[in-house]
Amino acid sequence: MARLEDFMGRTALITGASSGIGRLLALRIATAGARVGLVSRREPELEALAEEIRAGGGEAIPLVCDVADRQQALTTAKKAVEALGRIDVLVNNAGYGHHRRFLDWDLEDMERVMRVNFLGTLYFTKALLPAMVERGRGWLVFIASAAGRIAPADETAYAASKHAMVGLAGSLSLEVEDAGVHVLTVCPGAIRTPFFDDEALARLPAVARRQMAEPEDLVEAIMDALARGKRELTFPRWIASGYVAQALAPSFFRRQLKKHTVKDD
Ligand SMILES: NC(=O)c1ccc[n+]([C@@H]2O[C@H](COP(=O)([O-])OP(=O)(O)OC[C@H]3O[C@@H](n4cnc5c(N)ncnc54)[C@H](OP(=O)(O)O)[C@@H]3O)[C@@H](O)[C@H]2O)c1
Repeated sequence: MARLEDFMGRTALITGASSGIGRLLALRIATAGARVGLVSRREPELEALAEEIRAGGGEAIPLVCDVADRQQALTTAKKAVEALGRIDVLVNNAGYGHHRRFLDWDLEDMERVMRVNFLGTLYFTKALLPAMVERGRGWLVFIASAAGRIAPADETAYAASKHAMVGLAGSLSLEVEDAGVHVLTVCPGAIRTPFFDDEALARLPAVARRQMAEPEDLVEAIMDALARGKRELTFPRWIASGYVAQALAPSFFRRQLKKHTVKDD
């Protein structure tokens, strides 16, 4: 178990840093003293964040990249290492999804969800993990989703991509722990960010809408999980009781999940 309590002098690469959770986490990590690489497609947003970090006395490098493009991802990871010297912490956060029925979801976008959420994560991890193992130290943070542990209706492609992330992270954690690389899998529930466009908000189950959490609180929970050397974080924590219910009372749990997530339209 490798606790990450002190970010001073460390370097971090955060994908999906232009918005929401990634933006706040990048800001928080930079404020804690790490030099950060900021990855996403929207350059103005990355530049603005880098400026904000620099204004606060930190160091940040914007790296424009579509994480779903293998060549771009591998080149960007290389550029980050060149610019920052090494990467101590990789946060695989870039991602998107929809609340949409399988029958209404076009195949192209379903493929893209998998490419961005899963393959993007795979590319950056593949590029940066070997040097961490060589140094005998590193942290990989996977921003998956509660939908990576429980698959609700209306989220087929998204839940599949997040289950893939959780599987990758869990298996990898076992393989690299003894080499000094720590893996933290984060499974957030509904968090108030631009992830929820009007369509998603309208289709979000009422129970999730009522319990929406703030991204600042999630970011603090991630920092705390890293400091304690935790391997898994589900946030808000009450969602984890669903994993237990799913394992111990699968039929009951499935009925509840169906009732709350299947739409009539
Ligand atoms: N909000 C929630 O309720 C929630 C719950 C569970 C898990 N999550 C996960 O948390 C992560 C962050 O989501 P968020 O809520 O912060 O949403 P967000 O505000 O929409 O941010 C998504 C980030 O991902 C980046 N991104 C999307 N596609 C990309 C691509 N092809 N290449 C590079 N970057 C890309 C976006 O940047 P650009 O548009 O600039 O490329 C943006 O910075 C996602 O993986 C999401 O699945 C969110």
